[in-house]
Amino acid sequence: MTKWEFPEDFIWGAATSAYQIEGAWNEDGKGESIWDRFSHTPGKIDDGTTGDIADDHYHRWHDDIALMKEIGLKAYRFSVSWPRILPAGRGQVNQAGLDFYSRLVDGLLEAGIIPFLTLYHWDLPQTLEDEGGWPVRSTAEAFVEYTGVMVSALGDRVKHWMTHNEPWVVADHGYRIGMFAPGRKNTEDAIAASHHVLLSHGLAMPIIREMVDDAEVGIVYNLQRSIPASPSLADRKAAYLSDGEFIRWYIDPIAGRGYPADMVELYGSSMNFVREGDLDIISAPVDFIGVNYYARIIARSTEIPEEENLPRTVFPVDDFTEMGWEVFPEGLYNILGRLHFDYNFPAIYVSENGAAFKDEVGPDGEIDDPRRVAYYKNHLIQASRAITAGIPLKGYFAWSLMDNFEWSRGLSKRFGLIHVDYESQQRILKSSAKYYRQVIEANAVID
Ligand code: FCB
Repeated sequence: MTKWEFPEDFIWGAATSAYQIEGAWNEDGKGESIWDRFSHTPGKIDDGTTGDIADDHYHRWHDDIALMKEIGLKAYRFSVSWPRILPAGRGQVNQAGLDFYSRLVDGLLEAGIIPFLTLYHWDLPQTLEDEGGWPVRSTAEAFVEYTGVMVSALGDRVKHWMTHNEPWVVADHGYRIGMFAPGRKNTEDAIAASHHVLLSHGLAMPIIREMVDDAEVGIVYNLQRSIPASPSLADRKAAYLSDGEFIRWYIDPIAGRGYPADMVELYGSSMNFVREGDLDIISAPVDFIGVNYYARIIARSTEIPEEENLPRTVFPVDDFTEMGWEVFPEGLYNILGRLHFDYNFPAIYVSENGAAFKDEVGPDGEIDDPRRVAYYKNHLIQASRAITAGIPLKGYFAWSLMDNFEWSRGLSKRFGLIHVDYESQQRILKSSAKYYRQVIEANAVID
C-alpha cells in the first residue's frame, strides 16, 4: 500500500461554469449570450438540448453549497455570466445579476469554501458578438469594463481571480472551426480573437491587482503534451507544431516571449491587429496558471502520405471516456513538468480534470461509478508525483461538481461528482464524490 500525500495547505476543489449549470437564461434582466443564441439554433447541439435550465443552479445555489460542504470541498471554481452583469456587454449594470453572485460568494465563505472566480468561460454577451466579437479589439476593452464592475462588487471577498478559461477553445472552436458559439469559420478571425483574448487578460490584470487587496490572479489553459505518432521527422515536426498551437502560442506571450515566429509563419497571419505595446500588456506577471487537463495528443503528420510515414507507435491504452478521450494519467505529470520547467510561473493549479462516463442509477438509488473513481485516483497520484518533483502545484479542481450542459455535446455527457436528474433536478452524490471526500479528509491518496 502506498500513501501519496499532499501538502497541508493543498486546495481541494471542484469546478463549474455559468452557462453549463445556471439555467435562468433570460431571468432577472440577464442579456442573451452567444451560447444562448447558439444552443437555440437547430442542429448545433448533438442531442438538441440547451442550457436554458441546465442544473437550475441559479435557483438552487444554496443547496448546491450544502452539497459542496458534504463533499468537504475547500474551494469552488465557478464563472460569472457576463451578460447577467452587463446585459449589453457594457454600459448598464444589472444589479440583480451582481446580487446573485454576491449571495453565492457569501454562502461559500459562510461554508468555509474559498471562491475561485473565472471572469470568462465562453458566454460572451450576444451584443458584443454582433459588434464583431473577439476578433475585434473593442471586445477586449469591454472586458476591462466588465472586470472593473466585478472587482468592485466582489473584490472585498473574492481573492482568487481567473481571467479566461481556455483561450484556445474560444478562438479555435468559436471562430475557426465553428463547433462552439458563435460558430464562425475564419482562420484570420480566430487568430485575431486569440490576440484580443490575451490582450483583455493583460488589460484586466492591473485592475484586479489595484482593486483587490491580496489578489491572486491567473489565467486558465487547456494543456496537454503532444506526442509524435511515430519517431519519423514528419511526426516529430507535427508534435512540435501542435505544441506550438496549444502551448507556445498562448503561454509564450504571457511569459514575455512574444508570439512564436514559426507559428506566425505557419498561420500566414498578417498579425496587423497587434499594436505597439500589446505584448508588454499581455506579459503582466501572473500569480498562477490554471491547467485544465483531459488527455494527450498523438500527432500524425498530414504533410506526407501515410504510406511514406513510419508505422504508428503502439501505445498501450487503458480506457476511453464517453467523450472519446484517452485516459492517460501520466500526461498530467508530463504537462505540469512542461509548464514548470519551461516557464517557471510562481504557482500552478489543476483547474479542471475529470471524465464523462455513462452513469446508471442503481436499484438502490445509488450511482456507482468505479471508472471515474479510478480516473481521479490515478490522476491525483500523478499530481502528488509532480509536487514531489518540485512543481509548485497548489490545488486541484475536479471537473465537475455536478453533471451539466457539456457544450455542443449537450446534457448527455455527464462529468459530475454529483448526478443530476434533469427532470426532477434531484442531486445524488456518486461514489466518486464519496471517494473524493475521503481523499480530502486524508489529504492523501491511498493506493
Ligand atoms: C473544458 C471546459 C469545461 C468542460 C470540460 C469537459 O474544455 O473548460 O467547461 O466542458 O472541458
